[in-house]
Amino acid sequence: MKLGFLASGRGSNLEALVRACHDGRIQAEPGLLIVDHPEAGALGVAERLGLPYRVLPSRDYPDRAAHERAIAAEVQRHGLDLLLLAGYRRLLSPFLVGLMFDARLGQSRILNIHPADTRAYQGLHGYRWALESGLSQTAVTVHYVDEGMDTGAIVAQAVVPLEPDDDLERLQRRGLAVEHALYPRAVQQVIEEMQSLCAAF
Ligand code: GRF
Repeated sequence: MKLGFLASGRGSNLEALVRACHDGRIQAEPGLLIVDHPEAGALGVAERLGLPYRVLPSRDYPDRAAHERAIAAEVQRHGLDLLLLAGYRRLLSPFLVGLMFDARLGQSRILNIHPADTRAYQGLHGYRWALESGLSQTAVTVHYVDEGMDTGAIVAQAVVPLEPDDDLERLQRRGLAVEHALYPRAVQQVIEEMQSLCAAF
């Protein structure tokens, strides 16, 4: 089982996932990181951890379809079985979602981590939303990716409590630590499900 990663930013979830592959919590090989712009911090993580990467800046392509065809070519060239979005700030089109669709799983082989309960909040700013909404706790979610924005079936969730003196930075730091524990567990769970479905057919 070979994993592909798509990232746009810092790359802390990427690091958590690759480390989990290295220490056996995820039983899969980290295959390739694809980033959509050259300044992504995730590139530094890949270099440090010896993960091959490709920079495919979206601005180099005339439209989303052409950009995704370039991503799909890398997915096929590297034989990636499962794509993990780790702070990837683009919506995937039906083309890429369809390419990764696994009929036995009934889902696309693409997962994402979202900084909120996807049923309550969709978008990029889950921690800010939780803070501004005055919640006493929020959640982080690993979900399958479909064509919608954070609308795919939920794989796993974990609670992040808010504290009275939280600001965005504190909450985000605490939330990311929860993400880093949840995402590897959820990925391993999906891998086991994929393997048991393969064995059953
Ligand atoms: C995380 O909060 C994740 O939930 C969201 O984007 C952020 C990415 O952070 N999808 P990092 O790049 O993994 O540090």
